[in-house]
Amino acid sequence: MASIEMRNIVKKYGDGFPAVNDVSLDIADGEFMILVGPSGCGKSTLLRMIVGLEDITSGDMVIGGTRVNDKAPRDRNLSMVFQNYALYPHLSVYENIAFPLRLQNAPDDEVRKRVTEAADVLELHEHLDRKPANLSGGQRQRVAMGRAIVRAADAFLFDEPLSNLDAKLRGQMRTEIARLQRRLGITTVYVTHDQTEAMTLGDRVCVLRKGLIQQVASPRELYEQPVNLFVAGFIGSPPMNFLPATVSGSSLETPFGTIELDERRAKAVEGKELVLVGIRPEYFEDASLVDEAKRPLGSVFTARVDVTEWLGDSQYAYIPYDAPEDVTLQLKELSRELDSDQLRTQAIVSIDATSRIREGREAEFWLDSRKVHVFDPETGDNLTRDADAGAELTRMAAQDRVEQVEQARQKAG
Ligand SMILES: Nc1ncnc2c1ncn2[C@@H]1O[C@H](COP(=O)(O)OP(=O)(O)OP(=O)(O)O)[C@@H](O)[C@H]1O
Ligand SMILES: [Mg+2]
Repeated sequence: MASIEMRNIVKKYGDGFPAVNDVSLDIADGEFMILVGPSGCGKSTLLRMIVGLEDITSGDMVIGGTRVNDKAPRDRNLSMVFQNYALYPHLSVYENIAFPLRLQNAPDDEVRKRVTEAADVLELHEHLDRKPANLSGGQRQRVAMGRAIVRAADAFLFDEPLSNLDAKLRGQMRTEIARLQRRLGITTVYVTHDQTEAMTLGDRVCVLRKGLIQQVASPRELYEQPVNLFVAGFIGSPPMNFLPATVSGSSLETPFGTIELDERRAKAVEGKELVLVGIRPEYFEDASLVDEAKRPLGSVFTARVDVTEWLGDSQYAYIPYDAPEDVTLQLKELSRELDSDQLRTQAIVSIDATSRIREGREAEFWLDSRKVHVFDPETGDNLTRDADAGAELTRMAAQDRVEQVEQARQKAG
């Protein structure tokens, strides 16, 4: 088991374009790190440089305290689990798991011991005599992981292992991978562009855009304290709503009326004129359902509802608004980059399932002023990010992880 440290890693392919651009990232021993971002942002390239399948143009790759830039993949003792698990169809599950040990000419006793242990952890003992063709997708995935376990690899590396599966199986496998990683406490780097996987699996998530790190933080910090528009728009579904606004003293004039800022936020937007206000769907409510005590903490506005979607436990209301052309364009561009079709000049708000708000009618909404973020429309920076609150969220997640890894290792002896 090992930590992975990347220092100013750059990868330029033939045409000189930096696919990975000065990435510095520390992954702790036993940590589950997610690399996420839109297609082409450099996730696979970064992962392949960790394993050694891709040369590093400049920078240092340090695994378990040793610089490995010049080490061949087989000398790095890492295990890469690809999208298709590449099991040998003619070999039994037992022999598939044993494969790396056979390559090392390990004695039979040793093989039996290690395969049995791995099968225990993976709950595969009943299937050891079967061929891969007779296994479910989830079981096959476990066999692939078994192979990594018997090798006693220092880290697991996954590149979109679930992207070929249907939604239901993907959900099951996601849970399975999370459970296994917790139980084994093995350092894991997992590439995905699925934000649900990113949010549910990782101890921390590294968000990449065009080869550059945007933010590295626990899922909760990313969600609550994103550094910029890109991260804010990428994490969360439906996405954060972005409204154009003008700053006037400590208030923001938005298409949905005036939002009062607290002192900290007001200070952060001092000197700005035009901004983008970000507010997540769940921080809106049907105004008639907000209790009197809470009402003054937010602002109330009237708007016409375009569409409602009732989901059982909540419902979404789509509220179009008018925006200057440049804002519309900016949202369109962000939307395209994030591969989302939902960032438009309409707010998607989540309201209580019991709300009687109906589509095509005017309704009164409330929004929680305490939860707004304010972004600089030019740089995309989150001007009102509370860095201390964010760091605290990630610190707590790290503490949980350390405890879990310790427990796992004690159990494993
Ligand atoms: N062998 C190569 N030669 C030249 N350019 C490459 C090569 N491999 C990747 N690239 C470029 O490097 C950038 C990063 O590619 P990479 O495969 O790492 O992206 P990714 O984030 O894994 O995307 P995806 O989600 O589509 O898998 C892209 O612009 C890609 O076109
Ligand atoms: Mg890729």
